[in-house]
Amino acid sequence: MEHTIRACIFDLDGVIVDTAKYHFLAWRRLASELGFSFTEQDNERLKGVSRVRSLEILLEIGGVSLSPEEMERAAARKNQWYVEYIDEMDHSELLPGAERFLDELRANQIPFALGSASKNAVRILRRIGLEDAFDAVIDGTKVSKAKPDPEVFLLGASEMDVPPENCAVFEDAEAGIEAGLRAGMFTIGVGDATILNKAHWVIPGLASISWSELAQKTR
Ligand code: BG6
Ligand code: MG
Repeated sequence: MEHTIRACIFDLDGVIVDTAKYHFLAWRRLASELGFSFTEQDNERLKGVSRVRSLEILLEIGGVSLSPEEMERAAARKNQWYVEYIDEMDHSELLPGAERFLDELRANQIPFALGSASKNAVRILRRIGLEDAFDAVIDGTKVSKAKPDPEVFLLGASEMDVPPENCAVFEDAEAGIEAGLRAGMFTIGVGDATILNKAHWVIPGLASISWSELAQKTR
């Protein structure tokens, strides 16, 4: 049976906005307080990864171990600094083509959801003026299992009332592509084709896609 695409689900960080630079600044500050350095290359390992898991990786890099209470405090401090950065964001930080593509979907009556691991997703949507744009917003406050678990995308499909096999997922992280595949969805990698090679299709960014092209993709 052929599955046509009837709805889209977007990851937020790295697809709609480039927040990795703010995560990096906040994690680097924490690393520096703990007495080790943290590079942009190290930061690549944290893309798409939950806050708690990110902290574990960071501590592994620094060879530091903390008690559960210290870890909780460290994650809270990092988040406080991160929130200070995102509170300075505005509409100009939308990645190229994002708003145009969402408008195009809307004009074609294609529903779309957000599927993000971030607990700050709604705050970011507000800052960039997209708080009312999505038909469903599934974020880190609504899911219990992190990507590559498909929970976040399955919830998005169910809130839009569209079967998973008719959804397309846009993701910049390998774990997110894996989650989309496990959800039985058409997966679109946004970024580097050599890293996102498991995706059904890879595009450099939303600026290079049109609904008419996507609508022709079936499995
Ligand atoms: C993902 C980011 O979208 O959200 C990760 O790619 C981040 O880098 C994760 O760790 C959790 O975000 P937050 O805002 O809840 O700390
Ligand atoms: Mg991402």
